[in-house]
Amino acid sequence: MTMMKKDFISIKDLTLKEIEDIFSLTDKLKKNKEKFSRVLSGKTLALIFQKPSNRTRVSFEVGMHQLGGNSLYLAPHEINLGVRESIADVAKTLSRYVDAIVLRTFEHKNILEMAKFSSVPVINGLSDFSHPCQALADIYTIKEKLKNIKNKTLAYVGDGNNVCNSLLLSCPKVGMNINVATPKGFEPQKNILLDAKDMAKLQKVTINLFHNAFEAVKGADVIYTDVWASMGQEKEAKARKKIFKEFQVNKRLIQLAKKGVLIMHCLPAHRGEEITDEVINSKNSVVFDQAENRMHVQKAILIKLLK
Ligand code: CP
Ligand code: NVA
Repeated sequence: MTMMKKDFISIKDLTLKEIEDIFSLTDKLKKNKEKFSRVLSGKTLALIFQKPSNRTRVSFEVGMHQLGGNSLYLAPHEINLGVRESIADVAKTLSRYVDAIVLRTFEHKNILEMAKFSSVPVINGLSDFSHPCQALADIYTIKEKLKNIKNKTLAYVGDGNNVCNSLLLSCPKVGMNINVATPKGFEPQKNILLDAKDMAKLQKVTINLFHNAFEAVKGADVIYTDVWASMGQEKEAKARKKIFKEFQVNKRLIQLAKKGVLIMHCLPAHRGEEITDEVINSKNSVVFDQAENRMHVQKAILIKLLK
């Protein structure tokens, strides 16, 4: 019997039970690294990256190594995805060599195409549309810090981008409310909002959109931000700095949230733009715990997909 291969492309791919299972395996991986040191022995993970990366690349490579497997980083110019050969041919070829593929790309449809033609699991390592590995590690981090996350509120302030989209799919699923504050015209995508709202209804939590950061963070348990210009939007950076000026996470803003509010950022951060040094360096900031948890949660994802 051939088993259907599993991919991890969207938070939508996971049920709440599967998320809880990933988190409980993550706990075990964090507590007892040695116990899992051979679990993916003989397996190889290919990392195809069309954009730069620090956390995603390093956490997957080191994570794979810690599980006894190998990884192979393929920089943009090497595979030259879709230019040197089609995504389908890359997928079919790599499936003969490796056991899973992480793809970081621009257009989300590239990931869907890779998954369609690959016979091994494909993991979304970020597209212009979503960043599910990040959101999963973020929820894990919130749980680690707040213990009970049910009915807690995350306020996302800034651009309605890939990270925001994945948080919108994640928070309601795990029973958290989410407020999103963006300038007009930078709201998250409609189809994401529809899915997120369906889930929110089911879990009896709320999703609220704002065009004012101060309103969005009122009483929040977590404040989250990301860069104003994502990878690929460098040309818009100057214009966006003006548009997003009122959406900076600074001391004045965080004072409106709950005392002890968690400050989160997926990193890399543009300090002095979307977040001040003072806030990202403050004791409320958990940004490097988030970064660390990327590795632990992804190790759990790899085990779930490859075992
Ligand atoms: N947060 C994140 O994905 O970081 P990198 O772009 O450095 O991988
Ligand atoms: N929104 C950012 C996230 C980086 C991890 C980007 O896409 O560049």
